[in-house]
Amino acid sequence: MRVQLTIFNSSMEVFKTVKSLQQKLSSIGQGKSVGLVPTMGALHEGHLSIVRRAKKENDFVVVSIFVNPTQFNNKEDLINYPNTLIPDLKALELLQCDFVFTPSVKEVYQQDPNTENFDFEGLDEVMEGKFRTNHFNGVATIVKKLFLITNPDKAYFGEKDFQQLLIIKKMVAQEKLPIEIVPCEIFREKDGLAMSSRNVRLTAEQRTAAPEIYRTLLKSKKLFQNQDLVSIKNFVKNEFIQNKELELEYFEIADTEVLISSNEIKPNKKYQAFIAVFAGQVRLIDNIALN
Ligand code: PAJ
Repeated sequence: MRVQLTIFNSSMEVFKTVKSLQQKLSSIGQGKSVGLVPTMGALHEGHLSIVRRAKKENDFVVVSIFVNPTQFNNKEDLINYPNTLIPDLKALELLQCDFVFTPSVKEVYQQDPNTENFDFEGLDEVMEGKFRTNHFNGVATIVKKLFLITNPDKAYFGEKDFQQLLIIKKMVAQEKLPIEIVPCEIFREKDGLAMSSRNVRLTAEQRTAAPEIYRTLLKSKKLFQNQDLVSIKNFVKNEFIQNKELELEYFEIADTEVLISSNEIKPNKKYQAFIAVFAGQVRLIDNIALN
């Protein structure tokens, strides 16, 4: 099914079925490049900055909006995931996005939402993978499906989900898909909080406290210049022990390429700090390059 968005008086087209989207994509002409921006909706400026970039770098841009059930290890989180389809479409239309793909779960997964089992060579065994069982198999399953449906030249992913980005790169290499994965910078609120669809669920008190996450990352980056990794990790733990609104789930310093956690700085290696924090029921993540 194809929906022409006459309400917003634009040429952006919204597709609900694989068939209609593929028909459209096969009609745009050879030699035209397609950029894909996969999202779960509840779009914010972080998502929109990615769409702007994709618009600059491709002839056509497809944005998918699909809350993927197989990547949620927590049912409450899935149920509470914000749905703002109409404002999302309006925002995309203002950016002159070409195509939006908003399939149903049944359209994507047919009978049963099953996940494919990938071998990410350890990338999924730490941090988000360790705390969210089967999450990355769910992410890679849906992203692979979206890649096979849209066959893009480039696909765009935010560094906000740094581990996800590496996992997608690994999947693309293993499956030998001819798609360039483009990493996009983390977009932040003025006070430093990384933009996230989950931020709207924060209470006023939690929202006031939340910029502490990025401030702590910045401090750990400073400490990285002259302190050992164990001291930095202890410093971060102590920062959150005193915090009434934010509970630290993990703070890790890991090799930027293979995500192996480290307690020791090795020369010629790049390190990234990763953090996950609970503000009540809302889980927030962030990361920063240390060198
Ligand atoms: P979602 O959380 O909607 O994010 C969609 C894309 O936007 C991801 O690539 C994410 O890293 C990026 N993004 C989110 N917040 C950002 C920010 N503050 N700055 C820059 N980029 C940001 O990530 C997913 O959806 C899903 O796992 C998905 C890849 C769509 C698969 O279901």
